[in-house]
Amino acid sequence: MFSRRALLITGAASIAIIGTAGYRLLHSDLTIARQPWADAGQSFGDARLDALSYAVLAPNPHNRQPWLVRLDGEDAMTLFCDLDRLLPETDPPNRQITIGLGAFLELLRQAAAEGGYRLDITQFPEGEPQPVLDARPVAHIRFIHDTEVSRDPLFGLALTRRTVRAPFDQTRLVGHDVLTELGSVLRPNDGSFDWTNDPMDMGQIQSNSLDSWAIEIGTTRTHQESTRLMRIGESEINTNPDGISLAGPVMEGMRVAGIITRENLDDKQSTAYRETKKFYDDLINSSMAFGWLTTPSNSRTDQLNAGAGWIRIHLAATRAGLAMHPLSQALQEFPEMAEKFEEIHGLIGMAAPSTIADARIQGLFRFGYAPYSAPAPRWPLQTRLIADG
Ligand SMILES: Cc1cc2nc3c(=O)[nH]c(=O)nc-3n(C[C@H](O)[C@H](O)[C@H](O)COP(=O)(O)O)c2cc1C
Repeated sequence: MFSRRALLITGAASIAIIGTAGYRLLHSDLTIARQPWADAGQSFGDARLDALSYAVLAPNPHNRQPWLVRLDGEDAMTLFCDLDRLLPETDPPNRQITIGLGAFLELLRQAAAEGGYRLDITQFPEGEPQPVLDARPVAHIRFIHDTEVSRDPLFGLALTRRTVRAPFDQTRLVGHDVLTELGSVLRPNDGSFDWTNDPMDMGQIQSNSLDSWAIEIGTTRTHQESTRLMRIGESEINTNPDGISLAGPVMEGMRVAGIITRENLDDKQSTAYRETKKFYDDLINSSMAFGWLTTPSNSRTDQLNAGAGWIRIHLAATRAGLAMHPLSQALQEFPEMAEKFEEIHGLIGMAAPSTIADARIQGLFRFGYAPYSAPAPRWPLQTRLIADG
């Protein structure tokens, strides 16, 4: 998945082409695409909408925002997966999509608690779809007014959480204390978190991640799944605030100069392809610690629960001032990745799963310290609501 909004590519070539004056003019104004971050927390006159305005900010693969919500009666809602927003090449069993839906539910729960509501959530009320998601609901949710409901201390970080795709500061080590703190925010069903900041172990995980990235970008159909989802420059991003955003002055310059187009991103001989590959390699190489989230089995419920665990770890990292960036390539279930999938499980001392009853890694993350990142685009909440029937 090249991943995602990745490309704040620093191409010296493009700067030379557009010149300094042009460089100053070519900025991206993503105010429209980022508006949902400003809308969150405003009162919509319905506690469900108030909570949903935060839930749409959940992390989700390729920023597909696969959630669709139907409001039911006065106090309930049903969550569906938008089946037009799947990633069939990089996520054939829709596992990552389900994790994103789990993160959405956890943020919904936290935001509702903030407003004095307890949620009664029934996961997959009509059964767990296998081997892929289908039109059945992902969850049915009832809002219950409860003055005793506990607020979640992680909720305060919801608006500052970011997936950070920047090289990490090589002079700042990530200590044991902060990594231990991340695991401590998981509840019994959220999965388990473990980590390493040991250079020897990290070297092996790093090398597995580099190989896995090379496989994803080198496999035409998985790479093209990402290039199809690229939004190149301000206008495309504001019109389609999802997928992988290529924004900023350098990207605008490369777009204007014709260096970045969807076609040449697909072309393995192009500068755009080479820079994309290098961009993500550099991220992997700057990792200062790795962490991973595992679940005891791989049912749809485990995946939703892993989504809750994922965002809890991410919010805790944000609280600690630590940047977090998932590296999902090795965990993907397409045949070319099988060897790396097995290898990453072996590296953390786990047998590679062969059935959904087996334990597995649901998320692999790199950690470190990085400067501020701007929020990722989102579709406005009203576009994710569906009518009755
Ligand atoms: C299951 C899952 C897998 C993800 N894998 C990757 C990944 O491999 N590389 C990456 O750069 N981002 C990955 N992301 C992060 C998403 O791209 C990110 O959440 C999305 O673009 C929205 O940005 P935000 O988290 O900053 O709001 C993943 C997110 C989820 C939930």
